[in-house]
Amino acid sequence: MIRSVVRGVGSALPRRVMKNTDFEGVLETSDAWIVQRTGIRQRHIAGDDETTASLGEAAARAALASAGLTPDDVDMILLATSTPNNTFPATAVDIQSRLGMRHGFAFDMQAVCSGFVYAVVTADAYIRGGLAKRIVVIGAETFSRILDWTDRSTCVLFGDGAGAIVLEASEEPGAPGDRGVLAAALRSDGTHKDKLFVDGGPSTTGTVGHLRMEGREVFKHAVGMITDVIEATFDQAKITAEDLDWFVPHQANRRIIDASAKKLGIADEKVVVTVDLHGNTSAASVPLALSVAVSDGRINKGDLVMLEAMGGGFTWGAVLIRW
Ligand code: ACO
Repeated sequence: MIRSVVRGVGSALPRRVMKNTDFEGVLETSDAWIVQRTGIRQRHIAGDDETTASLGEAAARAALASAGLTPDDVDMILLATSTPNNTFPATAVDIQSRLGMRHGFAFDMQAVCSGFVYAVVTADAYIRGGLAKRIVVIGAETFSRILDWTDRSTCVLFGDGAGAIVLEASEEPGAPGDRGVLAAALRSDGTHKDKLFVDGGPSTTGTVGHLRMEGREVFKHAVGMITDVIEATFDQAKITAEDLDWFVPHQANRRIIDASAKKLGIADEKVVVTVDLHGNTSAASVPLALSVAVSDGRINKGDLVMLEAMGGGFTWGAVLIRW
């Protein structure tokens, strides 16, 4: 059967690093509060010359280089973002043109922090449906541009960045040992739309708006929703937590990551954590974490890797990949 196999991974971060201590004196907060409540120590913030498109392009180029491929070898670009360069056209077509691609097709999708997991599942469906053979799947964000920098309960949590993978069609036996995307579960529930949202948009205020979040409410739902889709994915693949080599969760909050892993019985040493370095980069967080764990030699060919995310909407999902 046709499977979507990961050929390469790459990432890009803005030059500027902002430490927790940089907030002290500006807002009523402290490094100790931020570390204790979230695990975040620093985040990268885009400069004027850095955008979702430029970061996405750099991540795509890095992923293609790690795959030994060029933009000519790709027939589709899928970008997960909630912070596009413009309302339209899709930032993915901007990235397509930056890469010098005049063939194939590109589009954006938006599922907030779950965007990359949704995009991997979507790309897998395009590959298995025969619509594309090689896809660059990107998660890229500049959340710094939609933060209310006077609101200490949100602005300390987020950062900017991009990550990407190259997925390629591969004929596999259709067995549990296959490489590629093996199982997935996606969910959303719009009744929670007011708990985490941006208070502007083209069809309402005509402005970009700022991120608003009832953090405690999000926290309350997060662990249950995350573990629910992961267990559904375990069931589909007929595996247990013990079979996993790596757990690469959305990097929103260390406490959510730890509680989810504990509830699922995933050992601490299998959990990839980058929230301390990047903060919450929304759709970029999972591919950024993947990029770190591949380049430092943790994730290797044949490893069983579970990706997971939960975010605004609410949206949530999990996808199991044999690397
Ligand atoms: N520094 C100091 N104090 C702060 C800060 C800050 N940066 N932010 C809030 N506080 C205060 C609050 O005002 C409150 O004070 P009060 O008790 O006097 O009212 C106190 O700290 C406790 O606030 P809580 O909101 O209860 O703090 P909590 O322990 O819940 O931590 C946090 C807040 C970190 C936001 C947490 O709720 C959280 O992580 N929620 C989930 C966020 C998340 O996972 N989002 C993922 C999706 S993101 C996406 O999809 C875009």
